[in-house]
Amino acid sequence: MLAPLLFDEYKYLAYKFPEPQYLGAKVNHLSWIAKYLPSNVHTALDAFSGSQSVSFYFKQLGYKTISNDFLNFNNQIGKALIENKQEILKKCDIEILFQESPQKAEFSLMSDVFTGIFFQKEEADFIDNFRANIPLLSNVYKQALALTVMNRSLTRKITMGHFGHTKALVYAKDPDRIKRNRSLIRPIKDIFLEILPKYNEAIFDNQQDNLSYNENILDLLPKFKEDIDLVYFDPPYCDSHADYQSFYHLLETYTEYWKDKQFVNGTKRYEPQRYSGFDKKSQIINSFRKLFELSDFIPNWIMSYNNRSYPDIETMVELIKPFREVQVKHKIYNNSRGGKGSVAGSSEILLICTRYN
Ligand SMILES: C[S@@+](CC[C@H](N)C(=O)[O-])C[C@H]1O[C@@H](n2cnc3c(N)ncnc32)[C@H](O)[C@@H]1O
Repeated sequence: MLAPLLFDEYKYLAYKFPEPQYLGAKVNHLSWIAKYLPSNVHTALDAFSGSQSVSFYFKQLGYKTISNDFLNFNNQIGKALIENKQEILKKCDIEILFQESPQKAEFSLMSDVFTGIFFQKEEADFIDNFRANIPLLSNVYKQALALTVMNRSLTRKITMGHFGHTKALVYAKDPDRIKRNRSLIRPIKDIFLEILPKYNEAIFDNQQDNLSYNENILDLLPKFKEDIDLVYFDPPYCDSHADYQSFYHLLETYTEYWKDKQFVNGTKRYEPQRYSGFDKKSQIINSFRKLFELSDFIPNWIMSYNNRSYPDIETMVELIKPFREVQVKHKIYNNSRGGKGSVAGSSEILLICTRYN
């Protein structure tokens, strides 16, 4: 069952995935997940791809990689780092992005909605202007890369790396916090320029036509016509994780530049939210049943799970059993507070699911 790493497969592993700041990202679990990858995978689907850390690893292994997340800012990372074979942001592109936009007047969403909550007016104007210039870049991959690097700069800039709180501007004036994290007072432009090279250096061609999708996975699965050898499921950990749309709403608003939403609560989260099916207790069992039924054409499944999630692990195994034989593997967090995005004392679980003989 262990995947033998042939010499040829090492050649992309030197590329470095730019460090994400995303709840539940699996970047620190990749070598553990790697132990359970089946051999002879040609095409792999990362069904809930988030920061794209697992998709990036699949791409490094030479798989044809299909990634999907229902949030578009994550899909943009997929376009930039997974689909993209060679497009980087060069000096001339950066000049376009930082120029004063001819359409400035039509791009004031961040300033209108988030000034005084996450940004001072000047910074909000800067990111609006930058957003107006993105469509001027010459192709969709450069555009996706510009959005990706800007979104990452915004999570660097804002305290705690998410937008589910209203403390950003208060903490940005707190000397203790600034000492610990200078990004709080750095101009977004500087942060962008600092991290851009890490993204440019992460772009490579693994000789496959990789794809990034932006759909609810339950809508996407029936559309596949091709053979897929492996699917990796990393659903939101219902009941133990905060909700992605409350945490990262600002990135989705920036990416979509919504014109048809309301912005509610202290954080100005967009409303209505996208439908997940995997984040509410009342829907989740049904959604998993559907997910497994729709994935039956894919022989190998690997699922990340957590012992604090709902439904509990025994129920999850029972849900999978009609379709696949299941092995449960535990990884105990070493630090007492749990890993990033985890609950203290929780253990990360992998469900290795194979067809019955
Ligand atoms: C635990 S995170 C995935 C983390 C990812 N493996 C990584 O390494 O960054 C779960 C992801 O599922 C996405 N999601 C939630 N409901 C979804 C749905 N119905 N279809 C597709 N993606 C969904 C969320 O946006 C979130 O990014």
